[in-house]
Amino acid sequence: MRKFVLISIWIICIGLFAWGQRQELNFDRDWRFARFGLQADGSRCPEPASPEASSFDDSGWRLLDVPHDWAIEGPFRKDLDGYTGKLPWQGIGWYRKHFEVSVKDKQKQFYLDFDGAMANAEVWLNGKKVGERPFGYSSFRVDLTPHLLYGKENVVAVRLNTEKFGSRWYPGAGIYRHVRLVKTESVHVAHWGVFVTTPRITPEQAIAKVAVEVRNTLPDDVKGAYKVHIYELDEADRPGKLVAESDKRPLTLLSGKTGIDSVELCIASPKLWSIEETNRYLVRVTVYNKRKQVDVYDAPFGIRTIEFTHDNGFLLNGKRVQINGTCNHHDLGALGAAMNVVALERQLRILKSFGCNALRTSHNPPAPELLMLADKMGFVVMDELFDCWTIGKKENDYSVLYDEWHEKDIEMLVCRDRNHPSVIMWSTGNEVHEQYEPERGIARHLTEVVHRFDRTRPATFGASYPSKSALNGTELQVDVHGMNYAAGVYGGPDFYGEFLNKEGHEHLSGYSSESSSTMSSRGEYFPRRFHVSSYDLVQPGWGGLPDWEFAALDKYPGICGEFVWTGFDYLGEPTPFNSDASVLLNHSAAMSEEELAAQREELEKIERNRPTSRSSYFGIVDLAGFPKDRYYLYKSRWMPDTPMVHILPHWNFPDRIGQVTPVFVYSSGDEVELFLNGESLGKKVKQPYEYRFRWDSVVYQPGELIAVAYKQNRKWAEASVKTTGDAVRFKAEPDKTVIKADGEDLVFVKVSFEDKDGNAVPTAENMITCTLEGDGEIVATDNGDPTCLITFSEPARPAFNGLFLVIIKAKRNGVRPLRLTITSEGVEKATVDIKIGSATKY
Ligand code: GAL
Repeated sequence: MRKFVLISIWIICIGLFAWGQRQELNFDRDWRFARFGLQADGSRCPEPASPEASSFDDSGWRLLDVPHDWAIEGPFRKDLDGYTGKLPWQGIGWYRKHFEVSVKDKQKQFYLDFDGAMANAEVWLNGKKVGERPFGYSSFRVDLTPHLLYGKENVVAVRLNTEKFGSRWYPGAGIYRHVRLVKTESVHVAHWGVFVTTPRITPEQAIAKVAVEVRNTLPDDVKGAYKVHIYELDEADRPGKLVAESDKRPLTLLSGKTGIDSVELCIASPKLWSIEETNRYLVRVTVYNKRKQVDVYDAPFGIRTIEFTHDNGFLLNGKRVQINGTCNHHDLGALGAAMNVVALERQLRILKSFGCNALRTSHNPPAPELLMLADKMGFVVMDELFDCWTIGKKENDYSVLYDEWHEKDIEMLVCRDRNHPSVIMWSTGNEVHEQYEPERGIARHLTEVVHRFDRTRPATFGASYPSKSALNGTELQVDVHGMNYAAGVYGGPDFYGEFLNKEGHEHLSGYSSESSSTMSSRGEYFPRRFHVSSYDLVQPGWGGLPDWEFAALDKYPGICGEFVWTGFDYLGEPTPFNSDASVLLNHSAAMSEEELAAQREELEKIERNRPTSRSSYFGIVDLAGFPKDRYYLYKSRWMPDTPMVHILPHWNFPDRIGQVTPVFVYSSGDEVELFLNGESLGKKVKQPYEYRFRWDSVVYQPGELIAVAYKQNRKWAEASVKTTGDAVRFKAEPDKTVIKADGEDLVFVKVSFEDKDGNAVPTAENMITCTLEGDGEIVATDNGDPTCLITFSEPARPAFNGLFLVIIKAKRNGVRPLRLTITSEGVEKATVDIKIGSATKY
């Protein structure tokens, strides 16, 4: 098996080799993995001696592909902390990979690029340490060249330790992002060594300034040169028309050093990048050693202007764009933290579908794919670094790394991401305690570090408690000020006015870096244990309702817009059901028997009431990707020109006959009339600073609710909800019917229920079992219930409020088509057929 793997890597190497051109080889496949330290069941397993050594026998370790998240495999444990998802993410993971390089490549340079490894990564090649990166969200490169063996087996070993990594949410664990082997000539473009800016843009022409860094690893100085071409770039990343070209420019490269130069090129009639039209270009830098071509490096970019104004918010290409954004953590729901571009693209598609146009990568560097997708799909991005600076929030969080690593981590993020037109600001932090100490000047220092690497975008951070931190001088140490929850208790309905009108703020631009934090469980209106009502009226005290932020932003258009907490539910932080015994048990190891006995009663009480909640309630969309009611509230505001009306709750309440059951309607119309069983319950007109239509005293009787919306006195949209019968059949909707057998492509199948008349049954919670035939596997199932402790890889779980999700993958190189069968007692079984074929290219 191993021989086969080695030979195939070798063949790929030869196959892709083109003279004078770098190669980036997929290095994701066939790693050996073993877990030590803390195990999933809470026991400990000691690390063996020297797993980094070439001679170490790893034949008994698991063979797997990365991206891999060892923690999502579970099981969920009730005794674990809800904050990090009740998953056993803490432990020590070792990965080893065997590979060979040709003797013909002795003169080449070999680097290994990790997009991220959680956490405290240490990397060895053939037993020699070649690099480390403690912050699990940072991308990093290690140079393999000095210790590489040619024509013989090499072993890369990676040790990860999440026991010493503090987090306020589920971080995942493992080599959870992609890895590439990069092969270059001795003279080559340095890591992230091309930076394109567009200092002057008019309708007639754009000036593209291309800065190039070229590394010379030879023992002698080199008379080098480079040449730049700029092409149009299509959606499939194919370069098209050549639009600009430089001369061949000489570049003297000193031995062991990096040479720097830049050139300005003129692009006629530039096609601007915007949220609606995501035009992109490609810079291609060709490097020469004397006359010989030695490297070709491609960097996609876009042409657009950004401006943050005091009076008129955010301008993209000179036009005001309201930031209708969401904050999101990095997990992909049931898939955990393991990067999968298909799953990420699905998340972004769902966000787009209700008008979200901006992303905040809270609170850490995202996977590079997120920015690639944002460029292509049309989102602007607040690219974020840290959740804290020198003062920590959790043991072993970034505060312990800050002194040694913050400049390197900023350099990594900015240099990696600065060609993306989607990135509009660099965020150095979130709710940092230093915001109350402007005299320490940390915000200013971080702004300066950011500007060392990019002067074309503002530095910012998300400050909590704006009434204390947005007027005390800290806000003047950033370029644009981010305020978390300013419309609620941290500020108030008129706080933005105070911020904008303060003396000294005449040039300062502000935005809501976090808003709302409204909580709900999809489809729950009179919630059961550990659920939150979906009437969208529950917020955690420090947050607010969506309506408060809307009103504040409507009143103060100088503010650029908002990033709602959050677009998606995420693993961990299940406020308001965070509390569990873990606080007491944290120190149990240090307690004597007597001390533990004294705690017994308290522990038992907590044990009885301990929530099973393991994921958040904040999402506009649930963890499985199903819209909650709030989706329609945001859609009504963010897509005002799309006819839409949505009624809540559902109308299946056999126990509420005769009881008051409020009905809310979200609509992009300005008037709505509601009917119950044909009788009008009145027409309501949206008043200034009102964002939902409410009928608070409807008395429940089974039947049908109909809402008719009007806009400017014309009928605009209509919707209805009906009392339904029992579920008798499934409705299974795959998001595509052809899957690529590349081991990465996924099909998401949404499963709902119908009664005998074909109505969707919103309350069905039947136990569902799935099986799959053909060359594929069921990767995960989910239902969006934040309290469900069934491991995601299980093919059976109950539906939650009428919905269920199955995620399917084809085996790499599989040929037999897939058939998914969905069964549940009393419900007609359903099948879904998926063909194997070519699918979307990313
Ligand atoms: C904010 C914080 C977020 C998240 C949120 C929950 O204060 O910045 O990371 O914890 O609260 O409401």
